[in-house]
Amino acid sequence: EQIEKGGYPHFMLKEIYEQPQAIRDTFRGRMREHKGIIKMAGVDDHIDKFLNAKRLVILACGTSWHAGLVAEYIIEELVRVPVEVEYASEFRYRNPVIDKDDVVIAISQSGETADTMAAMKLAKENGAFVFGVCNVVGSSISREAHAGAYTHAGPEIGVASTKAFTTQITVLTLLGLKIAKAKGKISTSDFHMHLEELRLIPEKVEEALKNNEHVKKIAEVYKDASNCLYLGRGFNFPVALEGALKLKEISYIHAEGYPAAEMKHGPIALIDEQMPVVVIATRRGHYDKIVSNIQEIKSRKGKIIAIVTKGDVTVKELADHVIEVPEVMDSMSPLLTTIPLQLLSYHIAVMLGKNVDQPRNLAKSVTVE
Ligand code: G6P
Repeated sequence: EQIEKGGYPHFMLKEIYEQPQAIRDTFRGRMREHKGIIKMAGVDDHIDKFLNAKRLVILACGTSWHAGLVAEYIIEELVRVPVEVEYASEFRYRNPVIDKDDVVIAISQSGETADTMAAMKLAKENGAFVFGVCNVVGSSISREAHAGAYTHAGPEIGVASTKAFTTQITVLTLLGLKIAKAKGKISTSDFHMHLEELRLIPEKVEEALKNNEHVKKIAEVYKDASNCLYLGRGFNFPVALEGALKLKEISYIHAEGYPAAEMKHGPIALIDEQMPVVVIATRRGHYDKIVSNIQEIKSRKGKIIAIVTKGDVTVKELADHVIEVPEVMDSMSPLLTTIPLQLLSYHIAVMLGKNVDQPRNLAKSVTVE
């Protein structure tokens, strides 16, 4: 097992550090910049389904559901087609409205999650075209789907999902760009700009990982907290949910993720000097709005840990701690802002002596309902 961990103390840390390569492996062979195309056989073979779809319905559970939410924001923006993201377990039990004009995307790292499998079968029975986004090659969901795309993240052993999340977002970004191009919804220059940004992501993830020691120091300060709030807006709202999920999964600290603007409808009542609030405050995403959210937290003496764009000044003055990530287009920022949140949860859990790779009560793949 020590050999499998490749010198890292835990699989989770190894997998966090594998993300630059995993993302590269996900787009390698698919991005043909010089030709201005994205190659995805599962899409090419069924392009009519994607062109004619009245809406896309994403089905998933857990972290994969969070990747689905990011994809909703990305695909709606690029393709201008409605996207709905459903918990597979809710979808399957509520007689959903679904038919042949829908394209369903089932996202699952393991490809074995029972609820996702049952939900996609139901969608198929109702005539929908089902596209699988799985990591495990040959898994049940990948076989049950009409077509699909693998994430190529390599084996993920840690129960708390890390590289599966960022590679799912990568595949779904490629998918969004590909459909947008096929539908004529994106200009050639914009398409190239997106591909170029995506190509630079692995290096930027590497840069984000360099904050590890700094994040560890922040973890030391907040490891004894009993609650933690995570806030984000737009593309980074799902990242707030994912950050909170990571913390509760492995450290057992209660954490909630919220859209920052919803804070005033409830969570603000919880803020006092005991409450750490992690805010994703990158420069391109509704920056002014998030700055005013930060001011509201500060005036209630909450402790602010902000994820900011490199070189930020405004938030730095307000926050108790800032963690910088490289500049990137807004729609791709989840690929970077997620990194410090993974590290923060990891270090807190290690400091608390928890079983990081196999947290209590959780399983890597949930094959029961
Ligand atoms: C379990 C795992 C999570 C995962 C979820 C969905 O709860 O612990 O890490 O996100 O299942 O799994 P899937 O394999 O379908 O992505």
